[in-house]
Amino acid sequence: MKKDKKIINKLINLYNLELDAHNHYMYYASILDKIGVDNIAKFVKKLASDKTEAHITRIYDYLVFFREPLEINLSNVKKNILETVNKEKSIRKNVFLILSEVLKNELKNREHVNELADFALNSKDYETFEFIQWFIKDYVKDIRELERLIELIDDQEISVHEAKI
Ligand SMILES: [Fe+2]
Repeated sequence: MKKDKKIINKLINLYNLELDAHNHYMYYASILDKIGVDNIAKFVKKLASDKTEAHITRIYDYLVFFREPLEINLSNVKKNILETVNKEKSIRKNVFLILSEVLKNELKNREHVNELADFALNSKDYETFEFIQWFIKDYVKDIRELERLIELIDDQEISVHEAKI
């Protein structure tokens, strides 16, 4: 069984985006731990693990099923966020800043997933269209949880150290 090379490349691209997200989120979690909000760090770290466990494992297994090898590209983690975090004294604002970066990345990756689904459907590749449904649903869940946590951080009534989903 052979898959269209464009579909394979898009899946490989998604794999790399998930891997990149993992690296970014682990880095953000370490900054959150450094500024003493281990509850938020734990949430971001869990999201990072989710990318390497549930997300990439699925893509890996799907590619391997079609005997397609992976191609890995490792982009550099954005280091400049640490500078901004160091300049800003408020922990709440720092947490908000980091979670906003995570949200931006999640929305970007979700767009890629939707675009892949659209491409698969238009290519009449119903298997890949079905395969990608898990990602469509999971991104909705991940983004909803993240938005709820950002709302909690935005709510001045709740201690930033007690905010959790
Ligand atoms: Fe997830």
